[in-house]
Amino acid sequence: MKIKINENGPILIEVSEAKIIRGETEETISQKTIALCRCGQSSNKPFCDGAHRKCEFKGELVELEVK
Ligand code: FES
Repeated sequence: MKIKINENGPILIEVSEAKIIRGETEETISQKTIALCRCGQSSNKPFCDGAHRKCEFKGELVELEVK
């Protein structure tokens, strides 16, 4: 798994498959990159919906590689 904290944007997590559990519902997704909001302005939390651009969120780039 690779995690990239995008400059001025979301947390990007590269996975082959992920299970999303929200209360009683469960969803399996197979997309390669999941974007999580870190600006707090997304209307689709915990996912990024691009609102960080409108609020001009600032944050530095950080990359993590989990082995
Ligand atoms: S980081 Fe993109 S909407 Fe918050």
